[in-house]
Amino acid sequence: MEKHVELEHVDTKHKFYQDALSYWSNVPPTVDGMLGGFSYITTTDVNGSSKFLKTLMNSEKIGRCRALDCGAGIGRVTKNLLLPLFDTVDMLEVVGHLTDKHLAEFLKRCQMHLNENGIICIKDNVANTRSFDHDDSSMIRSLDEMKSVIAAAGLTIIQEQLQSGFPPTIYDVPMIAFR
Ligand SMILES: C[S@@+](CC[C@H](N)C(=O)[O-])C[C@H]1O[C@@H](n2cnc3c(N)ncnc32)[C@H](O)[C@@H]1O
Repeated sequence: MEKHVELEHVDTKHKFYQDALSYWSNVPPTVDGMLGGFSYITTTDVNGSSKFLKTLMNSEKIGRCRALDCGAGIGRVTKNLLLPLFDTVDMLEVVGHLTDKHLAEFLKRCQMHLNENGIICIKDNVANTRSFDHDDSSMIRSLDEMKSVIAAAGLTIIQEQLQSGFPPTIYDVPMIAFR
């Protein structure tokens, strides 16, 4: 069952990261493994992200030379969404598995390395109130909390949209672009 946790609790627990490492070490390297059994939403997910990104690429004149896939797993997003749009894609860490403090620090580092007109996008589950997933040791923030972390990192949101077409039984998944 999900359990609410205080930010301070998570920020001081090395166990939060160890548990996630141990959970993901045992997950099969498949699309179903990456999506927790929801592999059938992958096309809807990629199409939604593609539409969101293409709008931004036109309006913000974003270059196509380089992208960074955070929490890439087996590279589902890199392969299906990013490689058709960018020349080079690097793969790195993940939003729900970072504490607020570490996520804000990470976003600041990303901002420092953005190309001219570059953007950062987060596409992740949100809940009404912050909840903690004991299975994979990750947290699901509320949309407001996600935006607070973005603001705390000194970044400004330029576009946001809720992914449509996902089953009503799963969490809302917003796409947020900022720099
Ligand atoms: C829900 S999966 C999503 C994978 C991929 N983004 C996708 O949509 O197919 C989360 C991924 O985050 C990775 N992960 C968890 N904690 C991490 C950490 N601290 N640093 C880097 N990756 C991490 C896991 O190994 C897993 O592949």
